[in-house]
Amino acid sequence: MDKLPAALGLIEEQFTVSAKFMRDIASGFQQAMSDGLAGRQSSLRMLPSFISNPTGREEGKVIAVDFGGTNVRVLLVELAGKGRVNIIDKRSALLKDRDGIYDYTSSSASGTELFDFIAGKVSEIAPPGHTYPLGHTFSFPCRQHGVNEAVLISWTKEFKTTGVEGQNIGQLLQVALDRRGSGHVQSLAVLNDTTGTLLATAYTDTATSIGAICGTGHNSCYLEPCHPLTSQPMIVNLESGNFDGICQTEYDILLDQISEKPSAQRLEKMTSGQYLGELVRLIVNSLAVEGHISISSDRVRTPYSVSTEDISPILADTTPELKAVADMAAKRWRINGLSLSELAAIKTAAWLVARRSARLAAATWAGILVKIDPGLTRRHTIAVDGSLYEKMPGYADNLYTALAEIFGDKAKQITIKLSKDGSGIGAAIAAATIYNTKSK
Ligand code: GLC
Repeated sequence: MDKLPAALGLIEEQFTVSAKFMRDIASGFQQAMSDGLAGRQSSLRMLPSFISNPTGREEGKVIAVDFGGTNVRVLLVELAGKGRVNIIDKRSALLKDRDGIYDYTSSSASGTELFDFIAGKVSEIAPPGHTYPLGHTFSFPCRQHGVNEAVLISWTKEFKTTGVEGQNIGQLLQVALDRRGSGHVQSLAVLNDTTGTLLATAYTDTATSIGAICGTGHNSCYLEPCHPLTSQPMIVNLESGNFDGICQTEYDILLDQISEKPSAQRLEKMTSGQYLGELVRLIVNSLAVEGHISISSDRVRTPYSVSTEDISPILADTTPELKAVADMAAKRWRINGLSLSELAAIKTAAWLVARRSARLAAATWAGILVKIDPGLTRRHTIAVDGSLYEKMPGYADNLYTALAEIFGDKAKQITIKLSKDGSGIGAAIAAATIYNTKSK
């Protein structure tokens, strides 16, 4: 038992990303961006979106579909110009029923079933008698050949629905809408959630350079000032969750080995909400196996027995007896009576995992910023959505601290803004842009 502090010290060493290491990651990331953009071998896909920043004058009544996490959300949005957005109606539905009646994310569901489900939700907010442009946020890597031609390259975030990889997403949704008699809804744009997040913030803030998700998944996009395909500004989806220029710890390797797609999405597996809880469990389990803490429960050995939502209360726990940590151990692992130092070790593990996540994300943003504005000569807004950024205690502070360590005083040029529901609103902005251009 008395070896616990030393064991924790070793874990802390592995999960600490120093300022120097963040700068190294930033420059590796920048190189990977240049390689991906030039079509050279790179872990960054640098996917073109065929969308640029909005003018803020986009107007109209538009449907937005936001698909990519545990829920599908549909919104009826009115863009009133001058950056004004009214959400007239919205619905949200779980893709995986809590009682196990359906699960559209599993391999037992087909693409047709999934898109019929989404089309059903759309039809609830789009009564016939009016033509609605629709923008579709689809938060997975897609090869785009145009703003409405997006082919899913491969599922991420442990999705397994059959018959969607390799398919044209806009078409799958339109066919499903037509099948339901909702042909008055026209799917006009498919975009990544990072792109939506960037667009939603850029609608009111012209300094927005980066859009990012720090939630179930992790990814960023940025506004490339001169895209090689068009020689015009274009938002590029980095699929940064797949970045592979960071050393994995033994825990990352274990997590990767039993994941749906081993060795893919390395950064995402170190950074996103899908995986942080599991990393904490792996650390606690190894402390137990090595005899540093007295946990013997099958549940601690069960992958994903702790979720990232379980981590936030632990991080916020300032009670002397670490009540939230004890509650989590009792609820998730059926373990009671842990000593204060054992509970503190669990809290430390959670804190190390959460802090590393934020510092890795910040390092990649530093790489993007240095690429587009090497001297940080102007203001940059980073638009972020996702549960980690919004809800995880200390996450936003860790991001700012990391940027300050990387850039020193110049970090003052950077503002991180929550783009709440940005991915849906951004889809509406994209659809309105296309609709207005078409009807001119
Ligand atoms: C995954 C997806 C990516 C998405 C991110 C956040 O990394 O591959 O497209 O942006 O999750 O939802």
